[in-house]
Amino acid sequence: MNGEVGIRIKEKNIYVPTMVPILEVIQETRDIKTFRVQRPSSFFYHPGQFAEIFVPGKGEAPFSITSSPQEERFLEFSIKRIGVVTDALHRLNPGDSVGVRGPYGNGFPVSSLLHSSLLFIGGGIGLAPLRSLINYVLSPQERINFREIILLYGARTPQDLVFQWELKRWAEHRDLTLWVTVDQGDSSWSGIVGLVPEVLKKVVEVEPIGWKSIVCGPPIMIKFTIKALLEMGFQVKDIITTLEMRMKCGVGKCGRCNIGPYYVCKDGPVFSYQELQEMPEEY
Ligand SMILES: Cc1cc2nc3c(=O)[nH]c(=O)nc-3n(C[C@H](O)[C@H](O)[C@H](O)COP(=O)(O)OP(=O)(O)OC[C@H]3O[C@@H](n4cnc5c(N)ncnc54)[C@H](O)[C@@H]3O)c2cc1C
Ligand code: FES
Repeated sequence: MNGEVGIRIKEKNIYVPTMVPILEVIQETRDIKTFRVQRPSSFFYHPGQFAEIFVPGKGEAPFSITSSPQEERFLEFSIKRIGVVTDALHRLNPGDSVGVRGPYGNGFPVSSLLHSSLLFIGGGIGLAPLRSLINYVLSPQERINFREIILLYGARTPQDLVFQWELKRWAEHRDLTLWVTVDQGDSSWSGIVGLVPEVLKKVVEVEPIGWKSIVCGPPIMIKFTIKALLEMGFQVKDIITTLEMRMKCGVGKCGRCNIGPYYVCKDGPVFSYQELQEMPEEY
């Protein structure tokens, strides 16, 4: 060893999650639950970022962080049950633990939204990432930095509306104009009935100059909503949306989520429509 002293610096393994307790579980709809978990120390994030949630013995999956970063005590994730990991998550209760690693992704471009009016458009569980940004911009510290705020939210039926408790709060909020629509009403529903893009053109009357629109939802809803926004006069750079790809590592290493030169987990999942237009067709 020539008298050299070898120093091994132990690098942190980025794939090891931090185990945290579940504090509360809220049944949102038949197949969606919101999980409130303890926020790990040194977990700082921006609205629109996501985390990998790990269930011991089952695996991990990416989920948008739906709580606002200003909430210091906990993180919230709203999770639809569709397969192995989400089914295991839905069986957990307060007091059980899950692993959290992240935050990952670029998040919403908050600085480019400053001093604009914001038109949020959400479909189904797509309200989850928007909720983080909505509560962020409505907070007393940030409200002054944004102008008018509108949310148009739609789901298939009244029973599929997520965050009904939050929608009630937002409906009474003096700084937010809320429109809620369902594709199919029923006897319990006295609100708007219609697909999001159609309702958008009918009820939301805005002069697009000075507005930004942030759209999250199923791909088909995003497609027709963007078409409607363009017809209303929105420019491609003022429409912001998210891409949901299958992911594995979440940190731009495994290549699972790439579109041409982009890694959706790292360069996204938030993109302007202008950026999407410049991407290869495959998305
Ligand atoms: C950045 C990001 C944010 C997300 N945020 C949320 C969120 O806030 N709430 C939420 O409920 N879900 C969210 N998802 C989707 C979530 O990651 C998947 O539902 C989850 O990975 C499914 O895991 P599973 O083991 O239960 O399903 P699996 O057993 O792996 O799969 C079950 C079925 O679902 C399909 N599937 C799984 N993942 C996806 C996907 N990403 N896109 C399309 N089809 C898929 C599979 O092909 C299969 O048919 C997000 C995904 C990404 C990439
Ligand atoms: S998920 Fe591995 S590179 Fe994006």
